[in-house]
Amino acid sequence: ADDVAEEEVPVYIVGTEPYFPPFEYADENNSNEIIGFDVDLINAIAEDQGFEIEWKDLEFDALIPALQSGQIDMIVSGMTITEEREESVDFSEPYINAGLALAVAVDNDEIQSVDDIEGKVAVVQQGSTGSQKADELKDEGVIEDVIYLAHVNDIILNLQSGRADFMINDLPVTQAYISQNPGVIKIVDDQIQSESYGFAVKTGNTELLEKLNAGLANVQADGTYDEIMEKYF
Ligand code: ARG
Repeated sequence: ADDVAEEEVPVYIVGTEPYFPPFEYADENNSNEIIGFDVDLINAIAEDQGFEIEWKDLEFDALIPALQSGQIDMIVSGMTITEEREESVDFSEPYINAGLALAVAVDNDEIQSVDDIEGKVAVVQQGSTGSQKADELKDEGVIEDVIYLAHVNDIILNLQSGRADFMINDLPVTQAYISQNPGVIKIVDDQIQSESYGFAVKTGNTELLEKLNAGLANVQADGTYDEIMEKYF
């Protein structure tokens, strides 16, 4: 049999929460297709390292459990590298800097900066660093309450309806929303916390982690990374 000599191309299952433009989101022209900065970047790395990708959509707070249980091989989802998460997964080298921004409905004149959130209600994405930040503010007694939702679009609906007063979410995502949907929300603080995103693999999966880091270094060196940056930012 000739299966002895066949080189198998590995296929890795990549988990993502794909409602997070410009990082991962459905293509307007083909809603079955996920596009975005993260998608182009991991595809370039896959090409460089000779592996293939199969996408799996999950809620953001389900990604780490899915990695730990072996349902997925890696997380590519605008995920911030944090010390706490490092206890349950291994992260690649950081691939982009982002940070948390505070935004409110456009007609909100009350909250003009982070100093005006006392006694207010936050709305955040479940399991995100924005939600951790809001939890801290609640524990410190600064804010009144936190609403946790799965998707950024629903977060914004809560600002529009007045159920929540402000959101804490990744700055590039909030900026992308504003440029696509002007006149709905506005940013009142664009740097509550600085962060970097990484790809996550199961703890100890050094084989895959080394491919991700080597591929990232190669696409950064050959100009592909800059082209992807250009395309989405
Ligand atoms: N960067 C934030 C975090 O890691 C939010 C990421 C949300 N990503 C997504 N695809 N919904 O907590």
